[in-house]
Amino acid sequence: MAHLELKNISVRFGGLLALSSLSFTIGDGRVVGLIGPNGAGKTTVFNVLTGVYQASEGDVVFDGESILGKRPYVIFEKGIARTFQNIRLFSAMTAVENAMVARHCRSGKGVVGSLLRTRSQKREEAFIREKALEALAFMGVDKYADDVASSLPYGLQRRLEIARAIASEPKVLLLDEPAAGMNPSESSELMKDISRISELGIDVLLVEHDMKVVMGVCDHIVCVDHGVKIAEGDSQEIQNNPKVIEAYLGQPANQ
Ligand SMILES: Nc1ncnc2c1ncn2[C@@H]1O[C@H](COP(=O)(O)OP(=O)(O)OP(=O)(O)O)[C@@H](O)[C@H]1O
Ligand SMILES: [Mg+2]
Repeated sequence: MAHLELKNISVRFGGLLALSSLSFTIGDGRVVGLIGPNGAGKTTVFNVLTGVYQASEGDVVFDGESILGKRPYVIFEKGIARTFQNIRLFSAMTAVENAMVARHCRSGKGVVGSLLRTRSQKREEAFIREKALEALAFMGVDKYADDVASSLPYGLQRRLEIARAIASEPKVLLLDEPAAGMNPSESSELMKDISRISELGIDVLLVEHDMKVVMGVCDHIVCVDHGVKIAEGDSQEIQNNPKVIEAYLGQPANQ
C-alpha cells in the first residue's frame, strides 16, 4: 500500500491559476475519485504527480519522500503509472511490445546489455515478455498480444493502455477518463477491472466523467472546480453536496 499526498499544490499557466492550493491524499488501499467540470484541473493533477508539469507552490510526498520536480521516468520507476485522456499507445508496436516497454523499467539490465544481447539479457527479455503477457491477460487482451496496437478497436486500446501501466507493477495507478468512449457494457466491465486492480494492492486515482463508474467504484471522492477543492467525501456525501451540484449544473452537457 502506498501513500501519496498533494500538499497545497498550485499550478500557474501565465495568468491562469489551474490548481489553487490543492491538498488531498491518494493510497492506503482506497480507490480515490477526482471529479470536476471540464477545465477544473484534473489532468493537471496527473501531470504534476507524474512530473510533467511543475507546481509553483506546494509539495508532493510519495511514501515519505518529496517527488516534486523529479523527472517523469524517475517517478514512473518509483511506482506511479498512468493512462492518458487521449490514448497514447505506441501505435506501430504490438500489444505485448507496448506492455514490454513499460515492464522494462523493472529490468536490471541497461542499454549496453540490450545491444549486446547477452545470454542473461535474452533470459531477462523472456521474463519481461512473460510479465507483459500476464498484464495483458489480467485486462483480458492477451489474445491480441501480437496484434499491432492501432489495429485494435477503441475499447480494447483503452484496456491495453491499462494493461501497459499494470505491466510496470506500479504502487499507484492514475486513470484519466478510462470510460470515455466506452459503451455501457464496456464501462461496467471497467468498474470490475478497477476493483480487481485495487485488490492487487495497487492504489488507484480515477478521473472520470461517468458518474455511475465513479460512484460505483470509489471509496473516496475529491471534487475540484476551477482548480479549487470544493468537496471531499464518500459517494453519498459528494452526491448531496450543494457545491458539487452547483458546479455540475453549469455543465449539464457533460453528464
Ligand atoms: N499546458 C497548458 N498550458 C496552458 N494552460 C493549460 C495547460 N494545461 C492545462 N491548461 C489549462 O488548465 C486548466 C485545467 O486543465 P485540465 O486539463 O487540467 O482540466 P481537466 O479537469 O482535466 O478538464 P477535462 O475534464 O476537460 O479533461 C484549463 O483551463 C486548461 O486550459
Ligand atoms: Mg482532463
